[in-house]
Amino acid sequence: MPDLDAYLEQHSGRFESELCDLLRIASISADSAHRGDVRRAAQWVADQFRALKLDVELAETAGNPIVLATSAPVPGAPTVLVYGHYDVQPPDPLDQWTSPPFEPTVRGGNLYARGATDDKGQMFTHIKAAEAWIRTAGRLPVQLKFVIEGEEEVGSQNLEPFIAANTERLACDCVVISDNSQFAAGLPAITYGLRGIAYYELRLAGPKQDLHSGTFGGGVANPANALCAMLSALVNERGQVQIPGFYDDVEPLTAREREAFGRLPFDEAEFMRKLEVAALAGEEGFTTLERRWARPTFDISGLTSGYQGEGAKTVLPARATAKFSFRLVPRQDPKKISAALEQRLRALCPPGITLELIDFHGAPGIVVPLDSPYVAAAQRAIEAGFGRVPVFMREGGSIPVVAAFHDLLGVDTLLLGWGLDDDNTHSPNEKFCLADFHRGIKASAHLWHELSQIKKS
Ligand code: BES
Ligand code: ZN
Repeated sequence: MPDLDAYLEQHSGRFESELCDLLRIASISADSAHRGDVRRAAQWVADQFRALKLDVELAETAGNPIVLATSAPVPGAPTVLVYGHYDVQPPDPLDQWTSPPFEPTVRGGNLYARGATDDKGQMFTHIKAAEAWIRTAGRLPVQLKFVIEGEEEVGSQNLEPFIAANTERLACDCVVISDNSQFAAGLPAITYGLRGIAYYELRLAGPKQDLHSGTFGGGVANPANALCAMLSALVNERGQVQIPGFYDDVEPLTAREREAFGRLPFDEAEFMRKLEVAALAGEEGFTTLERRWARPTFDISGLTSGYQGEGAKTVLPARATAKFSFRLVPRQDPKKISAALEQRLRALCPPGITLELIDFHGAPGIVVPLDSPYVAAAQRAIEAGFGRVPVFMREGGSIPVVAAFHDLLGVDTLLLGWGLDDDNTHSPNEKFCLADFHRGIKASAHLWHELSQIKKS
């Protein structure tokens, strides 16, 4: 191997300042007012690859562009597809940020900004690792195909058709993604499972306009009341989802996996302390890790109805809406869930209320096999980067494209998360530990070497 470590050391300051440049771009995919910023972020990422003399294309889609960059083929060595995303979640609530979300700031060894860990910072580690190889050895030891998209945070709807239309061009031996977390600070992991998701908006409508709740209350169905009743009927007091057929395709956890989860150093009291909650909650009969990683769930993400201003207002609102999702486990089919949900909601909807259900996006859950030379290579690379052998874990979040890579390209994904559970992803004060940023770059640089040792005919 060339002297990559010296190069990484020498250029670490610049890597951080470049990441800050990317973090200053408010590439919020959910908010159409930021379409220009989303494009600027795509351009910025493409320019990084151009500087490395990769073959670069900004592929247009019906939504945000996909940045594609390919390095030279390496005969006899595997081809590795690196996926990441340059879009970020909306930063609100803004007043809860200590420093503004798009003004990256270092405090206590952490870099604070929206996207710091999810996923700009983690994605960038692979670009810098490629740079280290190209600048020291003159070439990469494996062929890399980067696919960096701009719609992950809104469900990757345009990516799947793009992959389907470009299977030859994207052909590879394995996929690498860093868009998730380590097990804990100082304990890196290889993630072998993610949950899927099915995300909806339910809109209820009652009378033609808001009414006086004294004059009309008791006589007219209240959409806000109906929304509360309908949503609460979707889960029972034992934490079980109440939709016929919801659990039909859920595979029980094996005793072996439950044991393996149980051996991980998860400290429930510490978990509660950090979140400032007095108790944990979820489906009866499962541990917290089981419930977060390997059981389906129902969570409301937003509720809107009636008067939200200061003071009291006696009103019977004409409309009520909720945004909510189910996290799914492998084999549960989001389309089947949508059909069953719609039927259940129609049955729950009281007279005098009409409903509209909007199906935003869905993705299946995944598990990947651990007995592969690619996983063994990743283990060694992580040990080199982080100084510690990684543990195996699953995670509760979703990365929709992983299933598409499997189904359309026939390849498995290495999920190598450099983040931490307390990085505040999707919430105020998102951060990325700078030491982990540099360890991630080192692990990635070693990964290209380790993967190059897997001989392909
Ligand atoms: N980085 C996350 C995915 C993630 C989070 C994986 C935590 C493992 C642990 C990703 O950017 C994300 O948030 N995905 C969305 C997908 C959805 C919008 C389809 C998610 O999980 O909510
Ligand atoms: Zn992400």
